[in-house]
Amino acid sequence: MNGERITSATLAAMERRGERIACLTCYDAAFTRLLEAAGVDVLLVGDSLGNVLQGQPTTVPVKLEHMVYHSACVSRAADRALVIADMPFLSYATEERALAAAERLMGDGGATMVKLEGGAELADTVRRLTRFGAPVCGHLGLLPQSIHQLGGYRYQGKDDAGAARIRADALVLQDAGASMLVLECVPAALAEALSKELAIPVIGIGAGNGCDGQVLVLHDMLGLLPGRSPSFSRDFAASTGSVAEALSAYVEEVKAGTFPGPGETLF
Ligand code: KIV
Repeated sequence: MNGERITSATLAAMERRGERIACLTCYDAAFTRLLEAAGVDVLLVGDSLGNVLQGQPTTVPVKLEHMVYHSACVSRAADRALVIADMPFLSYATEERALAAAERLMGDGGATMVKLEGGAELADTVRRLTRFGAPVCGHLGLLPQSIHQLGGYRYQGKDDAGAARIRADALVLQDAGASMLVLECVPAALAEALSKELAIPVIGIGAGNGCDGQVLVLHDMLGLLPGRSPSFSRDFAASTGSVAEALSAYVEEVKAGTFPGPGETLF
């Protein structure tokens, strides 16, 4: 990858070439520089900042102003990577709220794409955002913002009906104009099949290594939360000497398709 700014067109071209996309969550300027130096393509200012920075039990309490603040910290320092900002809980419950949230996250936060959790029910919102120039990343499978409805952090799409629902939602999001899709905690076979079927890049987390790219929560893959990281993640710092080496090892393994390995592929 050369030094040019990564856009959704760059990611689409990478997908077509079969070049895997390395993505990590990122919440501040110092880590932005380290992640870019390691060759991370996409920085996701995830609402996981509620868990890892704020000590919240879920992502539900995260507010738009928190997301704008951290997006600005990341986007000010980013030279090359695409910066995606999560739209927090209920900030896209109506089309008007979604437009207002995108205005803050992109206008004040400097993000170049926004991410929202959910499927076909968001088709009109995705259409509206993209029509007005806000690129959208969908998020299907385990939806952390719906944790109080789901009742636990469990794999989704394990039976035929669940898998068919995720596939149908993915196609609707793509059709509505989404530029990218995150699939969280779905069986590897389903994620691989969707990555092949969809024209847009599919980024997996806990979804096996058949996706077009991978994302992890930064604090999990640096081993900063001992005993609290999900089993599909890997502590890359455990076998390397520094943060920089851990990040480079992650990028290398994602690009080579060796992360996640069989031990990190739960279904
Ligand atoms: O908020 C986040 O970090 C995310 C990833 C888990 C994909 O949405």
